[in-house]
Amino acid sequence: MDFYEAVNKRSSVRDFTDETIPQETLKRIIEAAYKAPTNDHFRDWHFIVVTDKAVMREVLEGVPKDLTVKDVDKMTFISDPVQKESYQIAVPKQYSMLINAAAVIIPLMKKKVDVLHPADLSNLNCFASIWCSIENLWLAATAEGYGCNLRIPCGNEEALARKATGFPEEYMIPCFIGIGRQADNAIRTKQLIPDLEKQLHWQKF
Ligand SMILES: Cc1cc2nc3c(=O)[nH]c(=O)nc-3n(C[C@H](O)[C@H](O)[C@H](O)COP(=O)(O)O)c2cc1C
Repeated sequence: MDFYEAVNKRSSVRDFTDETIPQETLKRIIEAAYKAPTNDHFRDWHFIVVTDKAVMREVLEGVPKDLTVKDVDKMTFISDPVQKESYQIAVPKQYSMLINAAAVIIPLMKKKVDVLHPADLSNLNCFASIWCSIENLWLAATAEGYGCNLRIPCGNEEALARKATGFPEEYMIPCFIGIGRQADNAIRTKQLIPDLEKQLHWQKF
């Protein structure tokens, strides 16, 4: 698949078929993640790929299972009807989009600095780097014909995933990634289209 085709096809997929993904394909997708730029040259990331449903259930134990569209009304930061609609689609699926995926991929980054209390922007470099790898992974999955979604772990979700998979304390999870074959009835959320006439600047703002 051409690069721009992959970029244009990529979207959050939260509804999957039961199809599994061959291990070689998952490996290729993870290899693409390691081609991302990195702040310190190490790329000392790990990826745990969970395909076993029993392990997945343990990993996702902390993910809320009972969210509804009503919970979106409590999100006071929402300021736009299209944005609101996208949350109304996404929020109730936070658990199903992961447990019904062919695999849950857990990227892991080393906590070299306190990214939750950064002294300056460069303290976030390790976090920014792993997010570059996540986008590579997502685009590679799209190029392979699969879809992804992601969820930021909140509260005790990371601790429960650590307990389920045994990764060391010195690593943290930037997000959970659900990956699988998109269901025929999957909903692609409406997007807010950037206005390049206003947002793209040449020479000066
Ligand atoms: C940093 C970041 C955090 C996100 N967190 C979540 C999340 O917790 N749950 C979710 O369903 N989607 C999450 N998303 C996906 C966004 O909702 C999605 O990318 C956005 O609505 C645009 O839609 P698209 O991916 O289909 O283009 C996140 C995306 C990013 C980049």
